[in-house]
Amino acid sequence: EATLGAAAAQSGRYFGTAVAVNRLNDSAYTTILNREFNQVTAENEMKPDALQPNRGQFNYTNGDRLVSHARSRGMKVKGHTLAWHAQQPGWMQSLSGSALRQAMIDHITNVVTHYRGQLDSWDVVNEAYADGGGGGRRDSNLQRTGNDWIEVAFRTADAADPNVKLCYNDYNTDNWNDAKTQGVYNMVRDFKQRGVPIDCVGFQTHFTGGSNYPSNYRTTLSSFAALGVDVQVTELDIRNAPADAYRNVTNDCLAVSRCTGITVWGIRDSDSWRSSESPLLFNGSGQKKPAYDAVLTAL
Ligand code: XIL
Repeated sequence: EATLGAAAAQSGRYFGTAVAVNRLNDSAYTTILNREFNQVTAENEMKPDALQPNRGQFNYTNGDRLVSHARSRGMKVKGHTLAWHAQQPGWMQSLSGSALRQAMIDHITNVVTHYRGQLDSWDVVNEAYADGGGGGRRDSNLQRTGNDWIEVAFRTADAADPNVKLCYNDYNTDNWNDAKTQGVYNMVRDFKQRGVPIDCVGFQTHFTGGSNYPSNYRTTLSSFAALGVDVQVTELDIRNAPADAYRNVTNDCLAVSRCTGITVWGIRDSDSWRSSESPLLFNGSGQKKPAYDAVLTAL
């Protein structure tokens, strides 16, 4: 197949990208987006600070623009993200305790209801686990509302749209032996055992180079999948875009039947949040890099 999306579709998967909505005005950008990708995630426009800048005042303009661009072209959309310690609006950052808990619930209900029936999945909770050796929760204002906040977020989203897939998303969960990976795994296993509605786990996969790619990445994906959830590579970028590492990630996803898709975190290197590292599949002129060919061949 000649494009990433079409190649991924041969095995029933998607190949997506993060989209910065203001770049939809750049025709070089949009040409690649529409040609290569069949899934999108809003890079920033569906985060809490973007959607609810003032309490009770929702701004869906940019999110709606992306959803309509994608849906009119048959692309899947992942909503990103409902509950996160970062990119909260200032008013939310200043809350705590039951007031913050209620604000989280109200945000999730309003946003999931707005997009009901239009999205493939939601990142319900993003980055709730701590780095390092402990394998425990990250401290945050949301965690301080009570250890059940993640479960409450998933139940609230499920009540607002019973059909959209509900995902947990995190980084540094790639190496099966890391405490953080095990912490998230134990949470997902517990949720499945107790019937908390969770459908998918996203692995951001922001690698700092080829050496950062763990040889047990496939074990990580298959172990989570064995719990009865879909797994997805959700924010892929790799410093200097080594073709081998991109090929390995692609092959590992394809080896796991419940690995349903791969999303890169931007189109051209110049679009990347890590642009100085040139971590993506297209250079700043929109030309395909060796990593692109490696991925396309592997798909
Ligand atoms: C990043 C965006 O790419 C940047 O534009 C923004 O300034 C900060 O957030 N993990 C995530 C993404 O889940 O939402 C982050 O996106 C990258 C790390």
